Amino acid sequence: MRILLTGGAGYIGSHTCVELLMRGHDVVVIDNLSNSSQESLRRVQEITGRDVELHVGDLTSPSAAKEPFLAGQIDAVVHFAGLKAVGESVSNPLAYYQANLGSTLVLLETMAEFGVKKFVFSSSATVYGDPDTLPSKEDSPSGLNLSNPYGRTKAMIEQILADASQADPSLQIVVLRYFNPIGAHISGRIGEDPRQVPNNLLPFVSQVAIGIRKSVAVFGNAYPTPDGTGVRDYIHVMDLAEGHAAALEHLEPGIETYNLGTGRGASVLEIIAAFTRVSGREIPYEIVPARAGDIASSYADVTKAARRLNWVASRSLDVACRDAWAWQAANPTGFAQR
Ligand code: NAD
Ligand code: WQD
Repeated sequence: MRILLTGGAGYIGSHTCVELLMRGHDVVVIDNLSNSSQESLRRVQEITGRDVELHVGDLTSPSAAKEPFLAGQIDAVVHFAGLKAVGESVSNPLAYYQANLGSTLVLLETMAEFGVKKFVFSSSATVYGDPDTLPSKEDSPSGLNLSNPYGRTKAMIEQILADASQADPSLQIVVLRYFNPIGAHISGRIGEDPRQVPNNLLPFVSQVAIGIRKSVAVFGNAYPTPDGTGVRDYIHVMDLAEGHAAALEHLEPGIETYNLGTGRGASVLEIIAAFTRVSGREIPYEIVPARAGDIASSYADVTKAARRLNWVASRSLDVACRDAWAWQAANPTGFAQR
């Protein structure tokens, strides 16, 4: 297939590029490079020995969105592009609704114009809010009492996709709810490259390990979890990339939603211990008050993806931390050329 990856220069997109190219698909990317650089795609080409066609453009612009469709037949679209900083979405909600909803609407209209039916969307476990029961299943309550606009954009887009599917049953849509993506490609050539102080735990821990930051602030240790710190389902980004390939290969008319996680939770202290083990570095930390809007625990029920997509996450937490460390150690300032 010739597959369009929106936001394909970003963290999850670039790893998915590698996986799809290695499986023999052709990959086209549209990205405005607002949170990434072309260097990630140059390295994707270096890893795979294959070309990636890049269109630099903003998906909220209908004329820019058309470019990749005009350049050649697109068989399927994977929609990663969007803004993802939870705190920023609270202080600047309109930018988040504009970027995330706006880009999705333009993309769906452009697909309709060009007769493209296959669509995979990057959703998030954040749509489960603060779950009453765990593990979260695809049919668990979602979109309720969400604590931030970022999460609401994901829930709203899921609703928009359900409506679009009802109006055009020939659309083939898969919604993927990612749990917590971490790690990097085993080559250490691509990885997560936050532009500001990282909001997420793993990039923060790696920057402490490499010495860019002094210590990890552990957000609370009085949660109802085994060690009191927050528990999440951390999934290796290459397992996630394989999940996209599986979803693309199983598309059929209608809309289906899948959790992409490991099914296992790890606490903040377990993450720090694993990273210390694989990096051999000391990782100082201090307990600070809980972060507003955080929940105690989140992990996935992964039986649906295993049964229907024949996909399971196979890499361990230690492997994910090892690969994150290899990327960080070899690229202390990320994709420095940008
Ligand atoms: P990322 O920021 O690395 O990648 C997103 C890419 O989209 C970037 O390259 C950015 O430049 C591009 N982009 C943003 N707005 C655009 C626009 N209007 N037009 C064109 N390009 C645009 O983020 P990521 O971690 O790779 O996340 C990919 C997707 O997965 C996002 O939709 C995110 O919300 C979702 N997601 C991420 C996580 C996570 O923890 N990383 C978890 C759940 C869901
Ligand atoms: C993980 C755990 C924190 C940083 C967020 C978004 C979600 C998804 C992924 C992306 C929690 C603790 C964190 C730190 C800490 N979105 N922590 N110190 O909050 O599960 O999910 O990212 O696009 O929508 O909400 O991930 O990595 O921020 O936090 O103690 O410096 O680490 O409290 O328990 P989270 P995270």
